[in-house]
Amino acid sequence: MMKHLIDPLDLTAEEVNEFLDLADKIMEEPSKYRHICDGRKLATLFYEPSTRTRLSFEAAMLNLGGSVLGFSSGTDSSAAKGESVADTIRVVSNFADICAIRHPKEGAPLVAALHSEIPVINAGDGGHQHPTQTLTDLMTIRSLKKRINGLTVGICGDLKFGRTTHSLIKSLARYTGVKFVLISPQELRVPDYIFESLQAKSIAFKQVERLDEVMPELDVLYMTRVQRERFFNEEDYIRLKDSYILDAKKMELAKEDMIVLHPLPRVNEIAVEVDHDPRACYFKQVKYGMYVRMALIMKLLGLEESEC
Ligand code: NCD
Repeated sequence: MMKHLIDPLDLTAEEVNEFLDLADKIMEEPSKYRHICDGRKLATLFYEPSTRTRLSFEAAMLNLGGSVLGFSSGTDSSAAKGESVADTIRVVSNFADICAIRHPKEGAPLVAALHSEIPVINAGDGGHQHPTQTLTDLMTIRSLKKRINGLTVGICGDLKFGRTTHSLIKSLARYTGVKFVLISPQELRVPDYIFESLQAKSIAFKQVERLDEVMPELDVLYMTRVQRERFFNEEDYIRLKDSYILDAKKMELAKEDMIVLHPLPRVNEIAVEVDHDPRACYFKQVKYGMYVRMALIMKLLGLEESEC
């Protein structure tokens, strides 16, 4: 059966581990995989701005020997003429073997998957989910902390609209003994469905407003940007945008082996002085993202390592 990746839980915990194991192997010996996608094409259908995700998908496919086609904004495509996502994917299914789609509307990649003849990957849908960023985050945590079970993970910033945080929480909740510290202003707390799923599974979590108070407890600190484009009015954004700024002084409160992650782009929430701290791992995270996307493309195309 053709497999899509729309929600992080579309993958079983075992599949996630397999993907991360394969990504590790690719990272160790990338040249072994450089022809496995010869003759295959990846379409990137991006209706919303992106730097990392789109380029990381494209680099991943190119590194596997495949090629890429697509568009990087809704205004460049027939969406500007009123074409539906369902029609666009029917068309793209003729030109590509696999596609990654980013869309401002929650659920658009799912609609695409329902009408597609090729595997569809959700590269971010509105304020909903971002499963491939989560695979990136899991690979980064596993590689740098050598485990995921039992970690205390602080997630800070815009937990209401930040799709990366929703997918990360859903996925980390499947590991044993992970504790969540959710740090946000009242108005930007996680949506009810996330809150209720943590409660229903009796997962340890707390919601706090101050970052400095919890810094000493954290093994991982996941910082996020306040999602300006999802606010209903600019005044609220301006009031909340600088709620958290991680600086060198706050880093002094943290464990020596804590790691700081951020899906990027960063606006103001991490002072550039933190970049020099060895615990700042957000640029390493970008690199892991490319390898995990190589693994994902291989697996969704049904390609086995033995074919390398
Ligand atoms: C994130 C996104 O698009 O949701 N960026 C990314 O894909 N790395 C985070 C963000 O835009 O804040």
